Formats: sequence, C-alpha cells, structure tokens
Amino acid sequence: MLVRKGLLLDCSGAVCDALEHLQLAGWDFQVVATLEAARKALTLAAPPVGLVAFDHETSWPGREIETLLARFDVEWIAILQRGLFDSAGLAPLLRRNFYDFHSLPLDRERLLVTLGHAYGKATLGARTEPHPAAEGRFGMTGRSARMQQLFRQIEKVITVDAPVLIGGESGTGKELVAHAIHQHSARAKGPFIAMNCGAIPANLIHSELFGYERGAFTGAHQRKIGNIEAANNGVLFLDEIGDLPLDLQASMLRFLQEKTIVRVGGTERLRMNVRVIAATHVDLKRAVAEGRFREDLYYRLNVLHLPVPALRDRRDDIVLLAQLVYANNEEQRSPQVRGFSAEASLAMEAHDWPGNVRELINRVQQAMIMSENRFISAADLGLAAVEGNGATLDEARALVEREMIESSLKKCQNNVSETARQLGISRVTLYRMIDRLKIVL
Ligand SMILES: Nc1ncnc2c1ncn2[C@@H]1O[C@H](COP(=O)(O)OP(=O)(O)OP(=O)(O)O)[C@@H](O)[C@H]1O
Ligand SMILES: [Mg+2]
Repeated sequence: MLVRKGLLLDCSGAVCDALEHLQLAGWDFQVVATLEAARKALTLAAPPVGLVAFDHETSWPGREIETLLARFDVEWIAILQRGLFDSAGLAPLLRRNFYDFHSLPLDRERLLVTLGHAYGKATLGARTEPHPAAEGRFGMTGRSARMQQLFRQIEKVITVDAPVLIGGESGTGKELVAHAIHQHSARAKGPFIAMNCGAIPANLIHSELFGYERGAFTGAHQRKIGNIEAANNGVLFLDEIGDLPLDLQASMLRFLQEKTIVRVGGTERLRMNVRVIAATHVDLKRAVAEGRFREDLYYRLNVLHLPVPALRDRRDDIVLLAQLVYANNEEQRSPQVRGFSAEASLAMEAHDWPGNVRELINRVQQAMIMSENRFISAADLGLAAVEGNGATLDEARALVEREMIESSLKKCQNNVSETARQLGISRVTLYRMIDRLKIVL
C-alpha cells in the first residue's frame, strides 16, 4: 500500500495523540513541536501535505508562522480546538495560508477526505508539466507579480464600458491587452477594428476614421464606411494615439463627447456605440505638457489607464515566455535542438530586452532555427553569456540576486510582499530565494 507522507506541527502533543488513536491507514506523519523543528524538517524534505494544530497554548507569532508556511509548496490543513474559530488573529492567517481546517474532536472520515483532496491538489502540478501558456490569463502568459497586477486590472476594465488608455514600451503586449479587453467584455460579439494612427498619412486619417460620401472629393466614387462606423457595437483600437494630428484630436474629442459622426461630404449625424481603446508607447502626459497632445482629449481617453510593464521589470516571466515561444514553434526547430541551456536562461534573465516580448520572440525563433547545439546557447540567442569574475555562473548570479533582494528589503522595511512586488516575483519565489541565499530577515 502506498504510504503518503505528511508533517504535523503540534506544540502541545494533543493532536498527535488524537491522530495516533485514529490510525489513519496509508498516512505517515512526522511530528514536530516547534517552528524551528518544522523548518528543519521542511527544508530536508517538504511533504505534499501538512497539518498545523492550534490550541489555546499555541503562541506562535503570526508573522513567523506565516513566513514558514508560505515558504514551502505544502497544502496546509489547520486543526483547531473549539472556541478558536472566533480568535481575532487566526481567521486571516487561516484564510491566507490554509487549504482547509478541521475542528477537534477529529472526525476520521472527514479528515481522510480532506487529506486526500489536499494531497491530490499538491501533487497535481508535479505530475504533468503545464504548457507555459497555462501560466497567465486572458490569453497572455505571465506569472510575475506585475503581470498578476495587470490581470487584476483587466478584470475590472472588462466589466465597464469607459475608454481605456494602454501604456507601455514597444513590444510589451499593448495590442494583446486591447484584444483581451474586447474578447472578455460584453462587446466580444461586436467587431474589433484596429487603426495605427502613426501609419496613415495625416491627410487620410480623417476619412479613414469618419468615412466619406460618394462625391465628397475627387476620386470618391462611392460611399466608404470609416473605422468608427465599422466598429459600431464593438471596439475601436487606436494604436499610437500620440501620433494623431492636432486637428484630428479635436474631431476625436468631439466624437467621444457626442458619440455621433458625420461622414466627410455628408450631412446626416449618425449615432455610434463604440468603445475606444487607445495605446501609446510615448509618455502622453509629456506630449500634453509640450503642447503636442490636447489635454482635454488626454483626460477623455485616460479614464482607465493600463500600464503594461516592460519585460525587464518582470524578470520572472522571461524564461516562461521563452518556453512559450519554443512550444509554439516546435515544428520549426533545428532537429537536434532539445531546449535551452542553463547558460542561455541566465543570459536571457540578465538581458534588458529593450524590444520587450517582441524582441524575445524574435531571438528565440531565430535561435531555434539556426542553432547547431542540442541546447540553445546564449550565443545562439545573440546574447552575451553572464560573466562572473572567475566565479561560476551560479555564484555570480547569487551575488547579484542577494544584492538586489537585500537592498529592496531594506527599502521596503523588510515587508516581504512589497519587496516581491517591487522585484516582479511572487512571494513564494522570494521566500525560496531568501532561504537559498540564507538572507537574514
Ligand atoms: N504576455 C504575453 N504573452 C504572450 N505573448 C505576448 C505577451 N505579451 C506580448 N506578447 C506577444 O508579443 C508580441 C508583441 O505584442 P504586441 O504587438 O501586443 O505589443 P505592443 O505593445 O502593441 O507593441 P508596439 O508598441 O510595438 O506596437 C506579439 O506577438 C504578442 O502576441
Ligand atoms: Mg502595438
């Protein structure tokens, strides 16, 4: 029979006795009585499931136990003495860190079911490696704290109908965000019309946007529907809005205020139901200050602002995105290529990616086709290998990581969640790194 391992943290020994009495077949619990002992046991070999007993004598400082629980990939189940449910400090701790809880006296059947579920959940990820795209939302890949924040913002934006302004450097995924908003909002069944304001000659933008009637000007042989009208009941995506000429900014403002258009050469005022999503890679506020962009239009468009983070500000996502590009282009790889070398992963994590995700796609695709190695090297990606002054790559990397983490922790007064957010990594990842690098909090 398969014996599943677990850990029991129990300072008074009461639950340990109760558990022994139940004789849970198929389970083997290592019992520890202090946080320090638990830390040691978990560091040696963290089991998939852990039980933590709370009774009236338990007096672990909340922060310390939370730090410990979050550090390891264990599904935690709390065992509570009656009367503790209402204890003020315990509820938030339980909510944040525990898979389930169970009150004393123990109910054998219920406990076995809970343990089975927790075990199943803990080992689910381990059995099958998920496709990199699975780590993300709205068709966008990313696991970093910055991307999680963006997903939460998109979640809010899709429930309302106001204009959105998407900011971010070139190649960060602004257009992908615009598509995501359209596809997950109530307008999903309506059209998505994209227009790049920087790519159309200034004298044509007006008729591109508003359309024209037959005979409106020489060459207007028949009526043409403009992009606003084409986007009726859907979304109009205005890319590079900063390039919209000033006179058209006035027309756009009028449209956003009145929600009507008149085709060029026409007289009829047509009512439109269009959500405008604009994107810019330039700082529009600065363009306003320099008189290149109308302030009133800026405020109209910027009702909801979504900043898409640069890739260098979410380094946790770099290797994941590289794996995504790899998986999406498997059929193009040189036949001997089996994946990325550790050196390539380090070089990718260290690179600043001025061209962001687009640059990453480009480098990975090229390396997959051109590499003559089994594992893609930094050179295949056109990147410099991370240098270490005589030290190994791992040592050099540890040094940089330690410096960054320590200085961020100091800046955030040792607030781990805030530090993780600033570094663009998850809390669990940060705890693991703190452990690995033996940083003292
Ligand atoms: N989070 C992501 N997950 C998967 N693919 C992404 C992600 N972000 C960007 N991409 C991909 O990167 C490429 C560039 O994205 P996109 O065109 O949306 O960027 P952009 O910010 O609009 O760039 P630009 O400012 O140059 O127009 C696209 O192929 C897109 O599919
Ligand atoms: Mg774009």
